[in-house]
Order: sequence, then structure tokens, then C-alpha cells
Amino acid sequence: MRDVIIACDFQNKEETRKFLANFTKEKPFLKIGMELFYKEGPEFVKELKDEGFSIFLDLKLHDIPNTVYKAMKNIGKLNVDMTNVHAAGGIKMMEAALAGLKETNSNCKLIAVTQLTSIDTQTLKEELLINESINDTVAHYALNTKKAGLDGVVCSPLEAPIISKMGLISVTPGIRFKDGSADDQKRISTPSYAKELGSTYIVVGRAITKAPNVLEAYNKCIKEFI
Ligand code: C5P
Repeated sequence: MRDVIIACDFQNKEETRKFLANFTKEKPFLKIGMELFYKEGPEFVKELKDEGFSIFLDLKLHDIPNTVYKAMKNIGKLNVDMTNVHAAGGIKMMEAALAGLKETNSNCKLIAVTQLTSIDTQTLKEELLINESINDTVAHYALNTKKAGLDGVVCSPLEAPIISKMGLISVTPGIRFKDGSADDQKRISTPSYAKELGSTYIVVGRAITKAPNVLEAYNKCIKEFI
């Protein structure tokens, strides 16, 4: 069940294809986010699925329940393996997302973003007028996710232990090798520490995409995490 998901944070299909040329035998799990999806659309997702890649479509839906329900029906038709919504949309919205998805693709995992890692306590308090701490809101949003019947949440590996205690899967970005640069990530972990903490999936971007030897970096993640 545990797996390594590569964040394909590329501008277009050509850049993505150039990167994927590093994989001749392997068919890794790929994360396609808004950057690539808004450029290349559903056709590219279908193309990659047809070639045997597993896909996490990271579009973070957040709208009224009826709109999210209908959007999820279309996402489900792409036959992706995982997709997501913002837990901040509320339990009804998450239930609607799940209903739309299950109508078209019962195997796709649906997960929720609790708090973005770019939000800190000060932003919560001063901009969003939420007085609870980040940790408390993450735990509360995860409980809402569970109530809505979703599979799990996106969170830091450091939060994976509480999430797995709730019976949810955790999809955890912020992964770096021991000697790697943190870049703009704050709460980071190595693949092996993420495993120790109980992450279900690690999402790895730059540690693989910017590595001098992409395949070697991917295999290192697999070896440490699986
Ligand atoms: O390059 P790096 O490994 O930092 O990329 C992590 C990926 O995970 C990026 O696609 C980023 O947008 C995503 N992500 C994240 N933190 C979150 C949610 C998603 O870093 N809370």
C-alpha cells in the first residue's frame, strides 16, 4: 500500500515527457497539479494513465457541494487513482465530492488538504480570524474528513502518527534526503523517517526531479520508504 509519488511540477507536456524519459521500465505514481493540468488538460492525464502510470490529480477542489459533486464526476471519468479537495469546504462538500467520484470511479482515493503548509498561526489569526492553533485545526479538519468518509489527508510527515491513529491514510510532501537542501519547505523529513512515522504515501518533487541522476534518486526513495 505504501508508495512514492513523484510531484510532476512541470510547466508543460514537453518538460514532463523529458523527465519521464528517465523511466524506461518503471511506471511511477505521478502527481499532476494545477500548473500542468491547466496547460495540458484531461487529455494528457488520460494519455499517462493509458501508458500505465498511476495518477494523483492534485486539483484541491473547494466550492459549493453541488459544483464539487459535478466536477468530481468528471474527474472520476479520467480514471485517476487519487484526487483531493480542501477540507475547509466543509463536511457536506466533502460528502458531495465523494458521491460524485464514487458514481464514476469507485477505486479512486479521495483525500483532503487540512491546512496548507504555507499558512502559519499568525495568518490563521490575523487574516482568517481562526483563533485555534495550526495543529488543532489540522486535527479538527482531519476528523471532519473522516466523518465525511474520505480516505485520508495531505499533511506533513510529522503529523502522520495522529492521522493514522484516526484510521486515515496520510499523503505527505516535504521530503528531502539527509544531505539535501530544504528549499522552501519548513517541516521536512527523509523518506525513511516518513516511513517510521507511518506515512502512507510520500510526495517527492525536487529531491527527484532536480537530482543529477533521477532514476537513482527515485530508487533511493523506494528503497528507504517501501
Ligand atoms: O519539490 P517538493 O518535494 O518540495 O514538492 C512537494 C510537492 O508537494 C509540490 O508539488 C507541492 O506543491 C506539494 N505540496 C506541499 N505541501 C502541501 C501540499 C502540497 O509541498 N501541504
